[in-house]
Formats: sequence, structure tokens, C-alpha cells
Amino acid sequence: MSRIVLASQVDEFEVRIRAAYDNQLDGHLRRWGNDPEGFDADQVTAELTHDGPDVVALGPDVETETALRLARTLDRDRPEVTVMLVTKPTGKLWERAMKAGVSVILSPEAEADEIREELDRALDGAERRRDRLTTEADPASRAHRVIVVTAPKGGAGKSVVATNLAVGLAQAAPEQVVLVDLDLQFGDVAGALQMVPEHTIVDAVRSPGLDLTTVKVFLTSHPTGCYALCAPETPADADEVTPELAASIIDLLSQEFRYVVVDTSSGIGDHALAAFEVATDFVLVGAMDVAAVRALRKQVDVLDQLGLVRPPRHFVLNRSDSRVGLNAPDVEATVGLRIDVSVPSSRAIPVSFNQGAPVVQSDPRAPVARELMKLVERFAHVPATDPGRRRPRRR
Ligand SMILES: Nc1ncnc2c1ncn2[C@@H]1O[C@H](COP(=O)(O)OP(=O)(O)O)[C@@H](O)[C@H]1O
Ligand SMILES: [Mg+2]
Repeated sequence: MSRIVLASQVDEFEVRIRAAYDNQLDGHLRRWGNDPEGFDADQVTAELTHDGPDVVALGPDVETETALRLARTLDRDRPEVTVMLVTKPTGKLWERAMKAGVSVILSPEAEADEIREELDRALDGAERRRDRLTTEADPASRAHRVIVVTAPKGGAGKSVVATNLAVGLAQAAPEQVVLVDLDLQFGDVAGALQMVPEHTIVDAVRSPGLDLTTVKVFLTSHPTGCYALCAPETPADADEVTPELAASIIDLLSQEFRYVVVDTSSGIGDHALAAFEVATDFVLVGAMDVAAVRALRKQVDVLDQLGLVRPPRHFVLNRSDSRVGLNAPDVEATVGLRIDVSVPSSRAIPVSFNQGAPVVQSDPRAPVARELMKLVERFAHVPATDPGRRRPRRR
């Protein structure tokens, strides 16, 4: 286990840290020597923290804006880690750095004594953070994910993404995935998975004394090892499912299932908001058209305004090959998120949808299925290769 990870492409600062500790650090210091510029912050964060360090130091050669972006992602995904910036401290930078979750700024010119003092302080800080976090949150529950799939507009591909994600995750974790159809009026997860549900979410809310055992009775099982809590049969029945009850159901399911995938109706209605409150992750589905991209930006702003900044946001650009005069950098700039997965248009999608077998199951070799599996891999733990050597995937 490395206690300190230094992100730097040059070894000069590593040598100085080691010297500050009389070259006694040995394996406690690891250098991550890739160029973070232009790479996905989530991926870099994962590589920096895969061995559970206490301190991540962003070296003097990491450009300030990149460093702040990484600090924000580290703060969001790995709050127990103390982030240190190695750069010339100025008042203005301090303010921005603090907001990004940086705890320590160290000048690149610091002498050995100061380097050691500041690193010791950062290590102490990490210990306190860890203590606080373990008392605040039950660590066991953090292993369980509530993944809410959302988009501002209908037809974006939420249900395609949600069903493929659930079925793909069930391949890695059979019997540990449940898909909740929270598009209460028109949801058709049941149709997309060719299931004839005996029960729906309405049966769950009608039963007295809502608890986990009761909710489980109303799940429908899919041959791929995934479960679904289907939407009501008629839009009128949907009224019985209040946002509070929907959130309680998701919460109960997440106690048992490792993955709860929630498909939602378009936009930010009360039910979607209730699901957002219990989400550990957001999957935002965007389309290649100006109106959809602008709407998605507004949705991202709403998440910020609601203070829902901790759950990681996974951005899926659907129909990414549409030729409409927009390109990926335009979309990223407008939405303010990096594209994590690009799903092209493919006839395989509606065909599989109509046949009731999501494309990751029915045609896993299809290019579109491979793209959707990239989303699955963001949640299913894939064996890591040596992070020191592997370069992050270029976007
Ligand atoms: N990448 C794609 N290629 C081709 N058709 C797609 C693609 N994504 C979605 N579709 C089709 O578009 C329609 C709307 O998708 P759906 O997932 O139901 O959207 P939403 O749930 O966001 O309203 C469906 O008929 C689906 O088959
Ligand atoms: Mg849908």
C-alpha cells in the first residue's frame, strides 16, 4: 500500500520527497507518471487511488486547471484522501483550491523540512478524515450502488441504457441486480425484457408495512439473472406511487442488491428527484442535437443547485454518430461533462428491444453492445492492469 501517491511526469520532486524522509519511504511513495492532461478525470482518479493512499500530491508539472479538476473528482469519489497541490500558493488560488477540496498547497521550492512537515500534516489529516467517514457512513452500504439513469427529454435512450446496463451487470453479478422502472406512467422495461410481470411497483406500495421482504415478493426475474420491479400496468395506477414511497423502495432494495438501476421518465419530476436523493451514481443520457444538449446542461445545473455533487456522473452520448453539425467536443463543452461512453445508432437496438433481449445479451459482439459494455465496466469491477504503465483511455 502506498501512503503517498505523487502525480508527476518528472522524477525530480519524487527525489526531493524521498530525500526529505532520508530515503526511508520505500514503498510508501508511488509516482504516477502519466500525463493527466486531456484524460478522463474519473479514470485518472481511479489510477491514483487504486491502492488506497492517504495522500495524493499533484506535482509541480500538473497544470493548475487540470490539478483543480482532478482535486474535485478526488474529493467527490475518494473523500478520505487528502489532496495536496504542489504549486506556488497565491491567495486567489487558495480560495479556488479549497473549494475544489485541496487541503494542502506546497511550494515547489519548499525545503526538505517544509516538505516533510506538510506531508506529515496531510497524512494526519487523512487519518482524521477516514475516522470521520467511517463513523458517518456504513462502509458496507457504500459497496452497493443506486444508479439512476436520467435525461431531460423522451426518446434519448434512457430505457435502452438502463436495460442494457442492468443485464450487463447481471452477467458480472448474477442475482445481485435489480432494475426499477420509475417511468411510472409509460415505462416499458417489462416489454423491453419480454417479461410478463405478475406484480408491479403498485403491489409493493399497496402492501401494508413496506419492508425488504415484501418488496422482493413483487420483483420479476429475468433469465439473465437480473430482477425488475416493473411499472404499473395503467398510468392511473401510477398515482399511488408517491415519490417518498418510490425512494423508500429503492432504498430497501439497495440494502440487499449490489446494483439498483433506476430507469426514469424524462426530465426532473418529483419521482426523479426522489430517486436522485438516494442515487450513488447518475447516468446522464444525451443525444447529438442542440436542443437535447442544452437541456442536458440545464439538468446538470439543477443537480449542482440541489447540491447533488457527490454522486459521480457518467455521461453517455447516444446516437453519437448522427451527422448534425455537432461534434463531441462541442457537446462536452456545452454540457460541461466529458463523454464517458459513445453509443452509435444501430438497428440492433430497436431490433433487440422488440425481441425483448437487450443487445448486450442478444448480440454482444455488435459494436453498439461493446460500447454499452463500457458503461457496465464502469460499475462492475474489472481486474486492473498495472496502473503505473497503463495509459488512461484517450477520449
Ligand atoms: N443508439 C440507438 N440506435 C438506434 N435506436 C435507438 C438507439 N437508442 C435508442 N434507440 C431507439 O429510440 C427509441 C427511444 O429509446 P428509449 O430508450 O425508449 O428512450 P427513453 O427511455 O429515453 O424515452 C427506442 O425505440 C429505441 O429502440
Ligand atoms: Mg424510457
